Amino acid sequence: MAKITLIQPDDWHLHLRDDSALATTVPAATRGFGRGIVMPNLKPPVTSVAEAKAYRDRIIANRPEGSNWEPLMVLYLTDNTRTEEIRAAADSGFIYGCKYYPAGATTNSDSGVTDIANIGDVLETMQEVGMVLQLHGEVTDETIDIFDREAVFIERHLINLVAQYPTLKIIFEHITTQQAANFVSSAGDNIAATITPQHLLYNRNHMLVGGIRPHLFCLPILKRDIHQKALIKAAVSGNKKFFLGTDSAPHTRDSKESCCGCAGCFSHPAAVELYAEVFDKAGAMDKLEAFASTNGPDFYNLPYNNTSISLKKESWEIPSSLPFDGSEIIPLAAGNKLSWRLES
Ligand code: NCD
Ligand code: ZN
Repeated sequence: MAKITLIQPDDWHLHLRDDSALATTVPAATRGFGRGIVMPNLKPPVTSVAEAKAYRDRIIANRPEGSNWEPLMVLYLTDNTRTEEIRAAADSGFIYGCKYYPAGATTNSDSGVTDIANIGDVLETMQEVGMVLQLHGEVTDETIDIFDREAVFIERHLINLVAQYPTLKIIFEHITTQQAANFVSSAGDNIAATITPQHLLYNRNHMLVGGIRPHLFCLPILKRDIHQKALIKAAVSGNKKFFLGTDSAPHTRDSKESCCGCAGCFSHPAAVELYAEVFDKAGAMDKLEAFASTNGPDFYNLPYNNTSISLKKESWEIPSSLPFDGSEIIPLAAGNKLSWRLES
């Protein structure tokens, strides 16, 4: 196979940051994709419909000339989110979900929810109006090992959450473990998961053996290879519950190559191709379109994009560094050779 054409993919989880960073992040996010679910973890976070509208306008202003890429906005849930805001979001026509960050779980999550019990009425309302809950599924209990935080979240919180809100649509975001893949596979149709390129391409050995690789540090953290294999199996299975979410999360080179480096991988410069490498290696190029282009819209009840992309078999190299907001950024898999390339 020398070329493959797909319905235009969407990215169901990404970070754009704000202000002058948008000049880099927005064009990068449009590369290969029709739409993107824009995470609201700004400083301060996007907690109201009005803030989401203003952020959306700033994003649109940075879209490349002629691009129809659509930012799908998300509200950030806090202990103080009111049910009226959820209803207004559902009526807005541009908000497609609400994000649950356990307070302190990841980058810019300090205003997140401190206890699920605090947002009971909000979850009830989301279930009623059909609003999707995007879940960062990790406990923040400091006695729990960082490699176990996702699995423990399932046992301590997710099982109860699903039982308590049986028709709430939940996306278990950027899953990283066999336990998460199994949980989602055996749950009802209202439960799905996104998977990032880094969790398909790498395991924790890649990050830690022979020297620490800060550009592979993201949250939830890379796990052992059995988990990587379970995620690949889920992604290439064609199962409707698993779809593409890059979690592309830009941080400058300095802030990652630091004594206390930031979590997040900037994958947009080669996102579709990175996934293609995984599917090709698994002998499952025929399943890439489901994962990248149709499973996500089906879950969100949105139409497929009426545009397409083509990937051709052509060797190229991901840049080793890119300019970013007056500074520098190292993309995921910087300097690596890829065998598929997006046709422009
Ligand atoms: C994300 C970021 O930098 O905003 N970082 C990450 O490691 N994934 C936050 C997140 O999605 O957890
Ligand atoms: Zn993220």
